[in-house]
Amino acid sequence: MKANEIYQEYSDHILLTYTRTPAIFVKGKGSVLTDIQGKKYLDFFPGWGVSNLGHCHPKVMGAVREQIGKLIHVPNNFYNPHQAKLAKELVRIAFEGKIFFCNSGTESIEAAIKFARIYGEGKKFEIITTLNAFHGRTMGALSATGQVKHQKGFTPLVPGFKYVPFNDIEALKAAINDQTAAIILELLQGEGGVNVATKEYVKAIRQICDEKKILLVLDEVQTGMARTGEIFAFKHYGITPDVLCLAKALGGGLPIGAMLVKKELADCFKPGMHGSTFAGSPLICKAALGVIKAIYSEKIMRNVKAQGPYLKTKLNELKSKYDIIKEVRGLGLMIGVELTIEGAAIFKECLARGLIINCTQGNVLRLMPALNVTRRQINKAVHVLDGAITTVIARSEATKQSLSMTKGNI
Ligand SMILES: Cc1ncc(COP(=O)(O)O)c(C=O)c1O
Repeated sequence: MKANEIYQEYSDHILLTYTRTPAIFVKGKGSVLTDIQGKKYLDFFPGWGVSNLGHCHPKVMGAVREQIGKLIHVPNNFYNPHQAKLAKELVRIAFEGKIFFCNSGTESIEAAIKFARIYGEGKKFEIITTLNAFHGRTMGALSATGQVKHQKGFTPLVPGFKYVPFNDIEALKAAINDQTAAIILELLQGEGGVNVATKEYVKAIRQICDEKKILLVLDEVQTGMARTGEIFAFKHYGITPDVLCLAKALGGGLPIGAMLVKKELADCFKPGMHGSTFAGSPLICKAALGVIKAIYSEKIMRNVKAQGPYLKTKLNELKSKYDIIKEVRGLGLMIGVELTIEGAAIFKECLARGLIINCTQGNVLRLMPALNVTRRQINKAVHVLDGAITTVIARSEATKQSLSMTKGNI
């Protein structure tokens, strides 16, 4: 199919649930994507946090190749060795507990919502989440998502959710009552603008949850699997959640989600209470095992700890140069650049120059390169971003000037 035929087919036969950027990718290796015309892009937002190891990582591809000819899927009323191995590995790197496998981030949150309801035994059923959080698109996760813009048009939502401002412990305390079953939290709000939870806030939440027997559910769908420089972001905070939700990077590009609950809580779920036809298949689990192997054997977290601060420093140099950059923030290789202007034009200009980044909340550029990104690639990306910002500012100045001239002529 030619490019124009592909665009036409999307327009004719694919529901318009996304605002799509006109680029058609056909190949990926590491941090480089190639489009249908052969143009190469430096990908600083690989798969929205899915391809943390870069595109087509050899250890993931090797695992998939090895498994695909043997057995792809086994339903969950039977056993398969790779699900067992993956569960063992996840518990080893996270905390002692038991896992429910699913296929996506939103499903891991749905599982946590159901788990909280069962844990509450009908007496405790309320769940508190934070404003600007993003937890997914299915009805439960959408109801947990503290952003009206995503919920608009889909009411009535699932009842029992309360939203409080992020990093505000007093607001959270005020929202808790005898019916509170769980608090769902992103330690770094990704879609919400790369907002980092403070240590005091998270520690205080952990203490309240312990005192009041409320489940602390951490949504590490985006921050998990070494993105922040630790295997899970909660390791930065010196706390352990009761429930951990994972997805995105866990499968190295293949769809997987997981909910891990502490061992002492595990019996809340009984056979028949929850399930998923596709989840935990040998193929997907094998890919996830390849991801974990690569993270540890390639010392990925060491690279994140070195390159994250370097990228931040380079971006702060841009901040000194441009007034439109208000703040550079984040943890590890999850970095937000807050602007005083809308970021869409900069995103587009970067793309035209062969750099893929993201823009969230209208004015926050989000950079989440592959965790094995090199210093050279960072230098290149920052150089492209620098040029893109200069061009966008110059363009906007020119537009302002021509507008004032037009007004003068009237
Ligand atoms: C923190 C967080 N939770 C949940 C989700 C939903 O994940 P999925 O799109 O896999 O359903 C996302 C997706 O961006 C996310 O960033």
